[in-house]
Amino acid sequence: MPEVVAVYPGSFDPVTFGHLDIIERGSRIFPRVVVAILRNPQKRPLLPLARRRQLLRAAVRPWPNVEVDAFSGLLVDYARSRGAGVLVRGLRAVSDFEYEFQMALMNRRLDGSIETVFMMPREDFAYVSSGLVKEVAALGGDISGLVPPAVARALARTLRRGSR
Ligand code: PNS
Repeated sequence: MPEVVAVYPGSFDPVTFGHLDIIERGSRIFPRVVVAILRNPQKRPLLPLARRRQLLRAAVRPWPNVEVDAFSGLLVDYARSRGAGVLVRGLRAVSDFEYEFQMALMNRRLDGSIETVFMMPREDFAYVSSGLVKEVAALGGDISGLVPPAVARALARTLRRGSR
C-alpha cells in the first residue's frame, strides 16, 4: 500500500488545543499529515493567513510528519494535488455532525477516491471552538489552556489593534 497522506483542512482562526489534539492523533495514525488552511478572504478571518500559518507551524513542531500549507478552491482538488487519500475532520459533539456529514458526502461525490475520517478530540476540548475562543478573548476572558500561549498573545495584539 502506498504511503497514506492525510489532509486536515480548516480555517484555524485561530488554532486551538482541540485542533492540536486532532493533529496529534492523526500524526500517530497516518505517515504524513498536511494541515491545510483555507485561503478564503470572504470568511473575513480575524488573523491574516500568514499569521495563522506561522502560529500553526510553531504549534506542530513536535510532530515531524506534520506540515502546514494553505489552499484555495475545492478541498478535494487540493487533496488530489497533494496525493492525499484521506481527509481528517474533528467531531466534537452531535451538533457538529450534520454539517460534517454533508461535507463528507459532498466531497465523496466530488471525488470518490478520497475518504473522510472523523476523529474525536479529548473530552476537555469538546466545547472549544475558534469562534468561542475569539469571543471570550474579545470580551477580556481568560483563554489560557484553550490555545497555545503564542496564539493567545497574537489574538490579544490583534484585538487591541482593532479596538483602537
Ligand atoms: O474550520 P472550518 O471553517 O470548519 O473548515 C471548513 C473547510 C475549510 C473544511 C471547508 O470550508 C472547505 O473544505 N472549504 C473548501 C471549499 C470546498 O471544497 N467546498 C466544498 C466542500 S463540501
